[in-house]
Amino acid sequence: MKPSDPGQPSTASAEYSELADETIDAIEDLSGVHPGYRRAHAKGICCRGFFRPSGLGAGLTTAAHLQEQQVNAVVRFSGSSTDPALADLLSPAKGMAVQFQLPGGGVTNLVGATVPVFFARTPESFLDIIRTLHRAQAGTLGTLGMIKEIMTHFSESKSSLLAVKQLKPPASYAESHYYCIHVYLLEDSAGRVRPVKFEWVPETGVRTLSAEAAAQQPDNYLEDELELRFKDEAAIFQLAAVLGEEGDPTDDPTRTWPEDRQRIDLGRLHISEIIPQPPELVMDPAAVAPGILLSDDPILSFRSAAYAESYHRRSEGR
Ligand code: HEM
Repeated sequence: MKPSDPGQPSTASAEYSELADETIDAIEDLSGVHPGYRRAHAKGICCRGFFRPSGLGAGLTTAAHLQEQQVNAVVRFSGSSTDPALADLLSPAKGMAVQFQLPGGGVTNLVGATVPVFFARTPESFLDIIRTLHRAQAGTLGTLGMIKEIMTHFSESKSSLLAVKQLKPPASYAESHYYCIHVYLLEDSAGRVRPVKFEWVPETGVRTLSAEAAAQQPDNYLEDELELRFKDEAAIFQLAAVLGEEGDPTDDPTRTWPEDRQRIDLGRLHISEIIPQPPELVMDPAAVAPGILLSDDPILSFRSAAYAESYHRRSEGR
């Protein structure tokens, strides 16, 4: 399967297709259906840019976009809500999804969010959490059921909930730090494989708004800000690879690695133009380039099937 086939999961995820259907159904039950929109991160803005590798990735991976040659990229910034009409301020976590056009054809994606960890450890657990939220919303969970569910999921979700709680309203999509959360494996020309996590680090640093400033912002302030910014300057991000060491978990998106891990500067992404949203754009995080492998994180492979199902529904106007 080519990673560039929209709506086709990039991983051999037949085992996940049924679970993906159930998961998208559960998201719709919880949040309603917004026909034609993504089932998560529904509100977003697409941009065009290019990625200029630093050359430092060449010793770590044979991936074509991390060598020396500049490649084009499509970037989509988004709010995490399922509601495309929700004001920017009301969805605390933001997303930045990057699709690199590979020099030999095809694409690969890196999808980040403004929190370093996810709230579910496995696809099954994600589905259980969404269904629990729905039952709580519908008032059918009951106190004992609520306590049981909190006990079941609290330890895995704790770090993510805390991280979301600490988020302040961003001043700009271009001045936010995005974590790609999952572990990937970089394979070099000798076949040596190393675990890494990717981060998009804003060149200008992170800037947030005070509560007073935030209260003054219009619904689409982040999109308006990008449009204004691009009249004078580009948004620039460093792509950092954080190298894992022996014993660092590779299969668990709810856990961080120790702070002191070595970081490699893989290059700079320059974004300077807003474009209409390409209808076939699917930012499948498991669509990797040769030279990059998926880790054993089950959520990473599962997302492929879930994003394909969301794409199917929205491309049919459902
Ligand atoms: C069980 C885990 C997850 C599920 C079921 C899920 C589900 C989804 C779905 C259905 C979409 C819309 C896809 C489309 O229609 O193209 C989406 C988009 C997105 N998700 Fe996830 N997601 C999961 C985990 C994550 C994680 C861990 C991150 C953090 C990096 C993340 C960040 C994003 C972003 C940034 C988008 C917007 C992509 C774009 O702009 O096209 N998701 N997610």
